[in-house]
Formats: sequence, C-alpha cells, structure tokens
Amino acid sequence: MRSDKIRCQGKTIVFVPTMGFLHAGHLSLIREGKKYGDDIVVSIFVNPTQFGPGEDLETYPKNFEKDLELLQKEGVNAVFAPDAVEIYGEKFQTYVELEKLPNHLCGLSRPVFFKGVATVVTKLFNIVKPHVTIFGQKDYQQLTVIRQMVRDLNFDIKVVGAPTVRESDGLAMSSRNTYLTPEQRISALSLNKSLKKAQTLVENGLQDAAKIIDTAAKLIRSHPETEIDYITICDPETLDDMKTIDRPALMALAVKVGKARLIDNMILNP
Ligand code: PAF
Repeated sequence: MRSDKIRCQGKTIVFVPTMGFLHAGHLSLIREGKKYGDDIVVSIFVNPTQFGPGEDLETYPKNFEKDLELLQKEGVNAVFAPDAVEIYGEKFQTYVELEKLPNHLCGLSRPVFFKGVATVVTKLFNIVKPHVTIFGQKDYQQLTVIRQMVRDLNFDIKVVGAPTVRESDGLAMSSRNTYLTPEQRISALSLNKSLKKAQTLVENGLQDAAKIIDTAAKLIRSHPETEIDYITICDPETLDDMKTIDRPALMALAVKVGKARLIDNMILNP
C-alpha cells in the first residue's frame, strides 16, 4: 500500500478530506497542511451517507478535471477519489456515531449527517493512514466531532483546524455558494454581517445571548429569500447553549438562502 511505503520512508502524511468542487478554502487547508508534513493526500468523495433524504446529494456540484488541475498546481502528492461502491460495497453495516455532539446545531436539522461524516472519515483515516489531518473551522461542529472521535477511538492522528477563508465581501467560501443567484448572494452576506454585529454588541458589554440572537435574526430576515435554520450561542467545546456571554462563546448559524443551506460561525470574545 502507498501509505505504508510513505510511512517507511519516514515521511509525515497529511490528509485533507474533501467532497471536491474545490475552492480557495480547500486550497488553504492544503497550504496549512504543508506546515505539518511532506506528503499531502487529498480525498475527493461525495459521501452519500452524510446526506439526508431531500438534500443535495444528486445535485452536489462536481468538476473533477478542474479539481485535479488545482491539486496538481498545489503540488499535492496523491489524490484519492474512490466511488461509493469502493467505500461502502453492498453489504456495509458498521457505522461510527457520537452520543452527544450531534445533538446540537446542524445535527438537529441534519440527523444523519455526523454519523455519515464520522463513518466515512474513519474509513478514510484507515485507508490513508495520515499522521495529521486538516479540517476547516467553517464546519466548526464537524471539526469538534472529528477531534472527539479521534480522542475516543485512539486514532494516532493530529487534528488541525484551519481558519475560514472568505470572499473579499465576507462571505465564507463554500462549494454550495455556486447555487446562489446574484440577488441571493447579497442576502448571503447577512450571515457574516450578523456575526460581526454580534461581536460588536459583545465588545460593547452586552452579555445576553437571547438578545444577540434576536438582533442577528432580525438582520438576516431583513434580507430577501433567507430562512433561518438556527442561530446559536454555545460553549465552544461541548456546544451546550450559553445564556450569558461571560467567557468566549461560539456563535454559529445556518441559513437557507434560496436553495443553498449556508453555515458560518465566530468565537465571541467578551
Ligand atoms: O467537509 C466535508 O467536505 C465533508 O464533510 C468530509 C469531511 C470530506 C466528509 O465527507
């Protein structure tokens, strides 16, 4: 196996899992990864088990040729792009599930998501055998789930969280931004705007999470074609709700803009 050979050569394998349709956010994960090792492996796999019924599995954007071109330019050492049969076969029946972390934020409206993510990432870890893995902080809950899973299951892998990459106007980069019409793209800016507004309120001494959430909700609803899934202020580690922001808190939100479900987050520092 490739991974065993690379490990025998004394190299450090850094793994960046993706679902393809790569953008600057993914490339920043790869660049971050280069700080930690000398063999960079990227996977491209749209994992069916993390999509629920009625979600965008069938229409998830793809451009494999362009992805390969970008990865070649970045000097990635290997690309793993399996198909669903290769990963799950026909008789697959073993899943990895976390008890508590998925009962918050995105897990509430996407009940199969984290089971699918934890399962596929476990499988990818066992195939790629990395020393280090890089996950984006934009998917904050996913990063938290992976850190917990790595601890719980004794994976000998260092998990690194990399900062969210934004367009110049503040929109967090996401493959799903491609679903937005020009008008919806303007509405999508309300996610980051509401987080920034929240940070200003907290800096000015407001500690009441409910009031901050209410202000954010009003700001988002003032933009057309937005439908709030959740806005939450919670403990950055357990993801349990916080009522008073008397220490750093995670503010996370998910909003449907047109047919794109977008997420963003920020740590609020009092
Ligand atoms: O963040 C993603 O793109 C996916 O959830 C991941 C980690 C590649 C697992 O399918």
